[in-house]
Order: sequence, then C-alpha cells, then structure tokens
Amino acid sequence: MSYVIGVDCGTSGTKTVLFDEKGTVIASKTIEYPMYQPKNGYAEQEPADWASAMINTIKSVMAQSGVRKEDVKGIGISGQMHGLVMLDKDNNVLRRSIIWCDQRTEKEVEWMTANVGREKLIEITANPALTGWTAAKILWVKNNEPEIFSKVAHILLPKDYLRFVLTHEYATEVSDASGMQLLDVPNRKWSDELLGAFGIDKSWLGKVYESCEVTGTLTKSMADELGLCEGTIVVGGAGDNAAAAIGTGVCEDGKAFTTIGTSGVVFAHTSGLAIDPKGRVHTCCAAVPNSWHVMGVTQGAGLSLKWFRDNFCAPEKETAKYMGVDEYYLMDKEADTVPIGAERLLYLPYLMGERTPHLDPNARGMFFGLSAMHTKKHMLRAVMEGVSYSLRDCVEVFREMDINVSDMMACGGGGSSPLWRSMLADLYNCPVKTVASKEGPALGVALLALTGAGVYSSVPEACHAVISTDKVQEPVAENVPKYQKYYELYAKIYPSVKAHCAELAQL
Ligand code: XUL
Repeated sequence: MSYVIGVDCGTSGTKTVLFDEKGTVIASKTIEYPMYQPKNGYAEQEPADWASAMINTIKSVMAQSGVRKEDVKGIGISGQMHGLVMLDKDNNVLRRSIIWCDQRTEKEVEWMTANVGREKLIEITANPALTGWTAAKILWVKNNEPEIFSKVAHILLPKDYLRFVLTHEYATEVSDASGMQLLDVPNRKWSDELLGAFGIDKSWLGKVYESCEVTGTLTKSMADELGLCEGTIVVGGAGDNAAAAIGTGVCEDGKAFTTIGTSGVVFAHTSGLAIDPKGRVHTCCAAVPNSWHVMGVTQGAGLSLKWFRDNFCAPEKETAKYMGVDEYYLMDKEADTVPIGAERLLYLPYLMGERTPHLDPNARGMFFGLSAMHTKKHMLRAVMEGVSYSLRDCVEVFREMDINVSDMMACGGGGSSPLWRSMLADLYNCPVKTVASKEGPALGVALLALTGAGVYSSVPEACHAVISTDKVQEPVAENVPKYQKYYELYAKIYPSVKAHCAELAQL
C-alpha cells in the first residue's frame, strides 16, 4: 500500500493528514497558532509558526501511524492564499507575513489600477486589483518599509514557504500563484509586463508548476527530522480553495462547492476561462491542468461565528466542556430554535471588509433590525443566516455569468453544521451534498501527490477513485420563498450604507 501526506496551512492552524492511496485517513494532527492584528484592518502571521506546526504535525502523524517511511510516496501542501512571505538572500524571513484578510493596501490598489488600467489587469490576471492579494502587499512594503524591501531576495506564498522548508526549492504552482496578481492566468506563467510595471524582480519569484507536478524532494536534514526518506517527492499542491475542490471531487464543469472556513467561498470548476467583467468573483487556474475556476469570497464567514462565540458564548463553551461536545454543536442547536429571519434581524458579515460582491475594504459588519425582543440566540441565528446570504451573493454572480452549477458540495468547519447546510440549500434552491471524507484541502493535495507519484494517471482519475458523497440536504419548498424575501432585503442594505462605512473608515 502507498501512503501520502497532505498538509493544510490554514489561518487558525496547520492540519496534517496521512492518507493511504484510497484516501483513508490513517492519522491526523492539527496545531494552532495566533493571527496578529496590530491595527484595524491588519492581519499578520509568523511564518516560523507555520513551519513549526508543519514539522510537528508531520512528526506526529508518522509517530501515531506506524507506517514505514519507505511507503510514504509523496507530500502535498495546501494553504491560505495571497499571504506575503519575504526572504533575504540568506533565506531569513524579513517580516511577519501579511495574510489574505489584511486590508491595508487600498492606496496601492488605486495606484495599480491607475497605472496599469483595470481592463489590462483583468486581461492578464483575470481579476481587478484587489487589496488582499499579494502584489498590492508587496507594493505596500515597498512604499512603507523601504529598508525591508531593499533586502528582498525571494517572495513566497505561505504554503510555498513550507515547500522551501521541506525541499530548499523556490517554487509555486498555478492555482495559488493566480492569487498573487502577478500571473498571466490565461497562459499560466509570470507576467513580465506586470512585473515590470510594479518594479518586482522576476528572480524573486519561484518557478511555476502545475499543481500535480513534482517541485522538489525532501532534503536529508528535513527527512531525518521528520522521520521520512530523503528524496520523498513534494508536488505543487494548491491554494486552499483549489485543493478543497480536488478533495470534494470538483474537477469537472457543473461541479461546485461552498466552504465555510474562516472565510467563505463558493467555487465552481470551469474547463474554459470565465471572467466576471465587474471583478466580483475571482478567476484562477485550477489544480486540474488546463482548466480554471471561479470563486466568490466572503471575508468573514466562520470568522463571524467564531467572533460571536468568543465574545458572547462563554456559557455555551462551559456547557459544551461539561457535556463533552463541540461548542459549535450547541450553538447550532440554539440557533435552530429561532425561526427563519431571526424575528426580523439581519446580520452583514463584513468584519474584515468584503470581497464578493462589494470589493470594499471599508465594509463593516452590522446587525440590522435589533429590537428589545431579540436575545442572544436571535443574534446567533442572524449571524449564520447573514453568512449564508453573503454566499448566495456569490451564486448570484455565477448565475449572471451563465455558470451552471448542477452539483453543490458543502465543506469546511461550517459545512459540517446541518443547520448551515439547510440554509444554503434553501437559499441556493438546490441540493447541497457533503463528501464522505471531511478532509477537503488536505485530501485534495494528497490526491495531487498520488498523481505526482504516478499512483493515479490524472487528477480527475484520482478524484473518481477516491471521492464519494454521503449526506444530501434538499431545499425545503416552503422555506425557499421565506429566505428569498430576507435575502432581497439583505442585498439592499450594504449599498445604502456604503458611503457611511467609507466615512467611518476616515474617523
Ligand atoms: C481566497 C482567500 C481565502 C484564503 C484563506 O481568495 O483569500 O479563502 O485562501 O483561506
């Protein structure tokens, strides 16, 4: 039997899973780390935390499993997209990583749009300039920390920094590189034109691979430390969303998934390039060679519920501990006692600005419709509904683009909530399924590693061999029009307060 390791470097922690070639989980370990928010709208993490979490989780899965190191045929790495890791010529990390949800780069985005032109940016990168994407962050460091910028010798994405730790190769792959805003997305290679316009040296960037290609092998010292064989292959892997697509079998037209992690994403595979001219959803290279995907992103999905839990749900945490159950399980049950619409209370989940459909770093979260009759459980339900409305916003854009979704999966932490899945099914008015394996991105990159190791001959073949669906949540006919009314109101709220959010950002 062959085995592979899938590493997922997420925002709340890094999860490593050892799988066999059928996708069965043999051992799994997660290590958490902090996110730093030194200012409103800033978000940073320490690359050393990611590296130590990866090393310790790999050691742990190997120790738990008893699998022989010779039988581990490869490693795939997935990770949060867009984060900026800068190294000097001696490979020292120059500053904390500015991560995907950081919103400090509004000025740089304006400059990119004015200097390159919105149409040109969309033509090359398939997306307009975006505050959370890597190019704007590089320019922010150039403008605000020139002494750091002068020392830059290498620029890597979070998971590509981990690849460097494992293999000493500077490399990336097409799906994650698409989120740097430096890749020519139609042609799957760095754009010399944009690198020139932004003053970014091409030699700072890694070599671009397809996601299932071998990008390097474990160095001797790393292999010894991890208890693996020197020369074990490390494949391209994928950005967390492209990886989750493979891990949920979304590798063909018509297939899509919704993930509720810290961010929320609605993702659809497209065998041809599909671009929203308004830039409300992102178009990126898929982890399947020669294909792409579109994804709508809501910045504060699981983050909203976690924020609510951490600030208002201490009693639920206590009770959950006492009962030996997950606190989110209790919160789900509590929210389920409140009717659709939370007694006329709506929540806008823009705690970290918003991408789809507003593309507005100044957007802020809000409750709309609070009355004295509302209690915590109404607010809790409103938070879950508000996140679902923001995901419906993404599906609306797909519909405008004529992207036909016939098969919708739910994944991520939030996808395991039956209540959240039922909200999605009713709001999308289509069945929402889950896959038997809950490992999403880690499984996705494990399948890429199995393909790179030659166990499967293509990524779709690996998906067909391993992925199976289990639960199906059908929409409930009488709920659909009820949610529709609330969704229509929700869609009107932000446009009417947008100018006030901009004013608030100036105070
Ligand atoms: C996608 C995005 C997030 C991150 C964090 O564009 O920013 O989904 O990848 O998980």
